[in-house]
Amino acid sequence: MHSFPNFNGKFHIFRQKRKVFLVSVRHRRTDAFLNKEFCEKQNFFSFSDIDFERKGRIMKFTSAEATPAPHVPPGVPRLTGAAKEDIPMYRIQTMNKISPVGLNRFPSELYEVGDAVQDPQGILVRSAKLLDLEFNPGLLAIARAGVGVNNIPLDRCAAAGIPVFSTPGANANAVKELVICAMLMGSRDIPGAIRWVREQAASGVDVSTVVEKGKSAFIGPELYKKTLGIIGLGAIGSIVANTAISLGMDVYGYDPFLSVDTALRLDRHVHVVKDINDLYKRSDYITMHIHYTEKTAHMIDASAIAAMKRGVRVINLARGEIVDDEAMLTALDTGMVAAYITDFPNNRLLTAPHVIAMPHLGASTPESEQNCAAMAVDVLRDYLENGNIRSSVNLPEMTMDRSGVQRLCVLHKNVPGMLANITSLFGRDGVNVENLSNKSRGDYAYTMVDLGSRVGDNVIEDVRRTANVIRVRSLEW
Ligand SMILES: NC(=O)c1ccc[n+]([C@@H]2O[C@H](COP(=O)([O-])OP(=O)(O)OC[C@H]3O[C@@H](n4cnc5c(N)ncnc54)[C@H](O)[C@@H]3O)[C@@H](O)[C@H]2O)c1
Repeated sequence: MHSFPNFNGKFHIFRQKRKVFLVSVRHRRTDAFLNKEFCEKQNFFSFSDIDFERKGRIMKFTSAEATPAPHVPPGVPRLTGAAKEDIPMYRIQTMNKISPVGLNRFPSELYEVGDAVQDPQGILVRSAKLLDLEFNPGLLAIARAGVGVNNIPLDRCAAAGIPVFSTPGANANAVKELVICAMLMGSRDIPGAIRWVREQAASGVDVSTVVEKGKSAFIGPELYKKTLGIIGLGAIGSIVANTAISLGMDVYGYDPFLSVDTALRLDRHVHVVKDINDLYKRSDYITMHIHYTEKTAHMIDASAIAAMKRGVRVINLARGEIVDDEAMLTALDTGMVAAYITDFPNNRLLTAPHVIAMPHLGASTPESEQNCAAMAVDVLRDYLENGNIRSSVNLPEMTMDRSGVQRLCVLHKNVPGMLANITSLFGRDGVNVENLSNKSRGDYAYTMVDLGSRVGDNVIEDVRRTANVIRVRSLEW
């Protein structure tokens, strides 16, 4: 927000290419004012420049919806309604119900959001399947309010220059709390105990007379001073580790790709092991917090279980496919595994007595849905408005503070010489590069260039036509 020269009010300033719109905060949806001198000096949009047909549309809007602005200073041309017509509106299509806590983070003067939005630049999705969806050519990005992204065609999106964002960590606390609950339920067979009490009452027994005798069937160990093994020390695993330490557990973690950030967040009492067998052989409880991939499919199989301590309790709130169900059922049968607590039930698993199954409840808290929605909106906006890529699952991560007057965002194939090819085009136009960032991820790379002065559309077109360039966007400020 800036104060406007010659005027005592505050304005939001919106720019689209070389046009500027100064929109009164008080009347921002309906009134826009352009100061003539400012406008002429900066070669900005002026009302007289626009063609007749568009003027007609503005006037139509003005007469129907405009709110008079009493504080327009004399001599300032008043363009009531122009703002609404020309503000750069991003269109966001929601594919699922998204928490209003997230949706409210879209400023209404910049974004049109809804499930019926056509030709969207951004898609917000939770679990809707987009695998076979044909994307409109103008689609710039997809944000998933959640973590798993197997409902989105990541490779197809990367090839089309569409970053897919997820919201890692936004539901971590919700999952962590259920992991603690899972350990407790698996220790004293709390679901079995609750069921038994109800069955007694239903069969006409006076419950109060049988509890003392019956409870022995549900006895189980405390967590205090037991050992917990955590496979995957990412957003969820790391906070499970810290909470378990505070419960007095001895914690072993295994994560071959442990990030520095996560390592710094881990309680110093957590033992990080390099060999997963060190974790298997010590742990009374094992919980996994890894993504399901080809590499992690059936990671907990017969040989992994054979390396575990007899009577271990295994908690799986990650993905069903990470555990080999047949191997688990055999281990439950022999007592090798005392309990399997999973968020991914199936009929086969439910035939075993020591399986505690929940209906994928890990992230099902209002807080988690709100966090996910807010984070999805934030990363989507940051990409649309600034070109920054944060929390992407298919394209390189990159953020850069705004500098210069224009930013070119170039998604391209990860092949040698691209940077030189792109920057040489600016040099040819005599434009100074103020800041530049380039990163690759697999077959794709991203280059952001902040320019000291504006480049002509012909230069942007030349970048676009450069071999191996997938998509170019120009942002101006
Ligand atoms: N039950 C639910 O409702 C629910 C909710 C949220 C997340 N999840 C599941 O939890 C998983 C983890 O989520 P997160 O937010 O912690 O993800 P994350 O990306 O923050 O952490 C995953 C961690 O696993 C590590 N890792 C990868 N391969 C590994 C391997 N072979 N062995 C050990 N560690 C390995 C990574 O280095 C990373 O640190 C998700 O993939 C999702 O499937 C389930």
